[in-house]
Amino acid sequence: DFEKMNISKIKKAKNNKKLTVITAYDALFAKLFEEIADMILVGDSLNMSFAGRPDTLSATLEQMIYHTNAVCTGAPRAFVILDMPFGTYINKDIALTNAVKVYSQTNAAAIKIEGGEDKADIIKHLTSNSIAVMGHIGLMPQYVRSEGGYKVRGKTKEDEEQLIRDAIAVEKAGAFAIVVEGVMSDVAKKITEAVNIPIIGIGAGNVTDGQVLVWSDMLGFFEEFKPKFVRHYLNGAKLVKEAVNQYRSDVQDSSFPAKEEEY
Ligand code: KIV
Ligand code: NA
Repeated sequence: DFEKMNISKIKKAKNNKKLTVITAYDALFAKLFEEIADMILVGDSLNMSFAGRPDTLSATLEQMIYHTNAVCTGAPRAFVILDMPFGTYINKDIALTNAVKVYSQTNAAAIKIEGGEDKADIIKHLTSNSIAVMGHIGLMPQYVRSEGGYKVRGKTKEDEEQLIRDAIAVEKAGAFAIVVEGVMSDVAKKITEAVNIPIIGIGAGNVTDGQVLVWSDMLGFFEEFKPKFVRHYLNGAKLVKEAVNQYRSDVQDSSFPAKEEEY
């Protein structure tokens, strides 16, 4: 019963159906998620989990385009969102030039931009030029260096009010949905009620209109540390290591390859 998502179906999901979003960075995994997730996000988190960098800031547009093409090729029926990397939307003109490059060089359905009221004019310029934009407010990883760390948002009344203003400004600018990351769940609930577009939460409780998780986090490929908001649906790292250990032991005792695996 899989149906390919589009902007109007995503907007209609509000108060109707919870949206399931997952990241993917390559064709192989994108194909596995294609008919299950409502949207696939090519997140700039790939700069950490794939490229091994300490944060997302050094991701480039070329890198994002490369991974988005892999995802779109592996999952042609998925609604794919390219996460605009740091520095590629610093003003209206640069943002539009880069967004047009994304639409001309990939089959991405939409782009994602971090920022609230401070980015509303940029989002408006994109949406009025026919670019589908997903917002991203709350804890914004591209602000990590300027903020001095990752901080859960919405702990004070002022911050709660700022976050609600951010959501409304991003909706008014024409975004079709907003990721709300790392926000106190009571505040995420108020944000969800304040706008008419779907709020996709991550570390924001179960009151939002949907959830997004980074595939390698939710499949347990990171053993070092599990953030509170992540649920491990698979012990990926453990299973992979066990399998590779088995392979090594089969190589060492010559039980691999067997007769039926020979030419
Ligand atoms: O880069 C990413 O994977 C993201 C999600 C966590 C929303 O922005
Ligand atoms: Na991101």
